Amino acid sequence: MPTVTYVLPDGSNQTITTTPSTSVMQAALAHRVPGIIGECGGAATCGTCHVYLDESTESFLPPGEDEEAMLEWTASPRKDNSRLACQLKPAGDAQLVVRVPEEQQ
Ligand code: FES
Repeated sequence: MPTVTYVLPDGSNQTITTTPSTSVMQAALAHRVPGIIGECGGAATCGTCHVYLDESTESFLPPGEDEEAMLEWTASPRKDNSRLACQLKPAGDAQLVVRVPEEQQ
């Protein structure tokens, strides 16, 4: 099963074992990870699940058109490794690491 480690702005972290069909946003909400809000339920229209992906831990297809557009409107600055957690579903035995931004709204 994949795991996702959420690194919080204060430097603490929380690691969750999830399933391949669960998005990084859904896993965060199910385990009450602070800073991941997921206001739109995964439709890529709110930007409140913005994370910085540690690309050395897992690679995904590049953001789609909707995700690209939404990443321009996130509360914390967009970086090269910015992703919407609702669009990321780790596969297999991935050990994914994401950083939660300071602000989400
Ligand atoms: S949950 Fe709204 S953009 Fe991801």
